[in-house]
Amino acid sequence: MYKTIIEPFKIKSVEPIYMTTEAEREERIKAAHYNPFLLHSRDVIIDMLTDSGTSAMSAQQWAGIMVGDESYAGASSWERLEYEIQDLTGFPYVLPTHQGRAAERILYGYLGGEGKLFISNTHFDTTRANIEFSGANAIDIPTPLAKDHDSEYHFKGNMDLAALEQTIASTKDQIAAVILTVTNNSGGGQPVSMSNAKEVAAICKKHNLLFIIDCCRIAENAYFIKHFEKGYENHTYREIAQQMFALADGCVMSAKKDALVNMGGFLALKDNALAEACTNLLIITEGFATYGGLSGRDMEAIAIGLREIFDKDYLHYRITSTRYLGEKIRNNGIPVLYPIGGHAVYVDAGLLYSHIPAHEYPGQALVCELYKKGGIRAVEIGSVMFGKYDDNHQLVPASMELVRLAIPRRVYTQSHIDYVVEVFDEIAKNAKNVKGIKIIKEPKFLRHFTAYFDLL
Ligand code: F0G
Repeated sequence: MYKTIIEPFKIKSVEPIYMTTEAEREERIKAAHYNPFLLHSRDVIIDMLTDSGTSAMSAQQWAGIMVGDESYAGASSWERLEYEIQDLTGFPYVLPTHQGRAAERILYGYLGGEGKLFISNTHFDTTRANIEFSGANAIDIPTPLAKDHDSEYHFKGNMDLAALEQTIASTKDQIAAVILTVTNNSGGGQPVSMSNAKEVAAICKKHNLLFIIDCCRIAENAYFIKHFEKGYENHTYREIAQQMFALADGCVMSAKKDALVNMGGFLALKDNALAEACTNLLIITEGFATYGGLSGRDMEAIAIGLREIFDKDYLHYRITSTRYLGEKIRNNGIPVLYPIGGHAVYVDAGLLYSHIPAHEYPGQALVCELYKKGGIRAVEIGSVMFGKYDDNHQLVPASMELVRLAIPRRVYTQSHIDYVVEVFDEIAKNAKNVKGIKIIKEPKFLRHFTAYFDLL
């Protein structure tokens, strides 16, 4: 009956936001070499750089922090976390890590190496980097439906099943694992349907391939399945996630997303031998098997967060408030990936700035504009993040030039979001005048974090 999306929580503790002028921001983004990763967070008004580790914890989680058991081995906080993860995922072997990429390094480092191949709907950048760092290759096969940015199709995060069969036919002996990223972060935060996950699982089973779920946003994904895929209307969000886990051989999770904590992750596996090999690596690089990369209090907070995330009022607010931002700016003429995904709105900077070619990085130009005009920090997901150079050092661009507006969980209210919408009105008015960007300095891996840029 009422249209206003109210946040299903009250605010008990607050953090100040420092206001800046446009002139101040021009100076600050210049000093940060036009790379928002290099800004000081106090100079940012609305921080949409990531939804990772930026959640506000609940009073229950903070209470859990106080009862964390910090014993080196066999802590009760570990037992609680292990139980929660086993109960949710159904996987018997749980390895706690300090964040998602540590779990990736252990699993994909062990399975990878020269000549090996990983296949995904889309590898997240740290997933790809860990795979490539091991010497293996990573192939992305998103559904071709993902290319149509305006179609109403709800599951653009799906994997292309025909491409999966084809890739297996030509490279089967090389394949180390098939990874379904749920939701598909680098593919626009789009959800994956249960039927797609079932088909991927069946294909993996037929060819005896390891099937891993990158489950860091699986609760958000479950919302889309319940509301947009036939047959799941009467299941709870948690049951839907459990059904998806039941299809796979293991999962990798960055708890910094759908476990509502600031730090943490885990690896959970079905196979004992694989779990033992990974546990050996865990002990060398993260910590003993009953804490890995985590303190007892972190484990308490994750265990509580993994329950809270499936709360129906929270998930409804989460997904509809993300959609609210996306629909508003889309109605005001900003091209966005549609339908709106779970954790973020993805602006098509290639279309918004169609006068800026890929090698002048339209997405990077947009993130700088957003900061200058409104103090909003966002991240480029385009040719800065995923572009490669050919043998003649010419840029091979990414498939899309996107900017992600990631929404931290339980942090901003509707008035913050309405402010972002207003800033986008200015961005739309000024679009034609914006110029491209060049790279001045860059590292070999994950260049978007530390590269220096300059305006053209
Ligand atoms: N997998 C996915 C799908 C992710 O989105 C991330 C992180 C990771 C793995 C790695 O997890 O950061 O805990 O090591 N994504 C963040 C983001 C950084 O901004 O989307 P991590």
